[in-house]
Amino acid sequence: MAKLLAFALIAVSATNVAFASTLRACLDPLPIQGTNFPLTHGIRNGPYVECEYNHAFASPQFCFYNATSLALTHAPNVPPVNDTTIPVDSNAACPTTLPLAGSYRINFPDTSGEFKCVTMSDGSDGAPVTIQDCDFTGPSNQVWSFVGSTIRQGDKCIDVTDGRNIDGVKLQVWTCADGNTNQQFQHSGGAILNQPNDIIHWLAHPDKCMDLTNGDETNGNQIQMWTCFSGNTNQMWVINQP
Ligand SMILES: *[C@@H]1O[C@H](CO)[C@@H](O)[C@H](O)[C@H]1NC(C)=O
Ligand SMILES: *[C@@H]1O[C@H](CO)[C@@H](O)[C@H](O)[C@H]1NC(C)=O
Repeated sequence: MAKLLAFALIAVSATNVAFASTLRACLDPLPIQGTNFPLTHGIRNGPYVECEYNHAFASPQFCFYNATSLALTHAPNVPPVNDTTIPVDSNAACPTTLPLAGSYRINFPDTSGEFKCVTMSDGSDGAPVTIQDCDFTGPSNQVWSFVGSTIRQGDKCIDVTDGRNIDGVKLQVWTCADGNTNQQFQHSGGAILNQPNDIIHWLAHPDKCMDLTNGDETNGNQIQMWTCFSGNTNQMWVINQP
């Protein structure tokens, strides 16, 4: 009975959303009149998402979006946040809606305040999904796509080994297959990137969450599923732009 009640509480308290085309981010880069301006950063700023670009002549440039409606918000109408006046959006080329993000890193905030990255250790079926230092050079085995409820690189999906619904079952990659419930996840973050404490649930068993095994940040530690537990820092991820 206690178990049933706990499950019911999890089910109603988590606002799970499928990964399917839900996450939005600043364009990287922003094309203006044939020139690409690289994104400096995209952050949540109060009720807005702020996208900042390097511009050779008038740097920086900003696009502001309503973090709820995802619509472009022009800065002259934006009130100060914490007494800091938000810079004027002078950029008419901002998309009218915060664009969909195509690829992502799944980060774990380590004890030093840096991020580590969820990594496909290699591209073969059964290869462990691990935590590693983020590597921003060259082709990355840390950049994931969200397709439907799957988290994938090419045709390899994050997969709960043998679909075992037990605490401590490890995550691997496996060839993606439509309808394979071992490969379907949801997360509790909102529709935009950079939500802290994003909880990643197993869709088939939403009381199980992606969990950094023993909270051990050592490179190569294989990620597992564990019963979701509110406040468990081993289960708090941040989904970011690559
Ligand atoms: C405003 O300041 C408070 C207190 O320092 C902080 O917690 C909050 O995140 C700030 N909000 C923004 C949008 O910067
Ligand atoms: C953002 O959009 C929502 C929904 O349309 C609206 O209720 C809210 O007032 C907007 N916020 C700002 C700061 O404009």
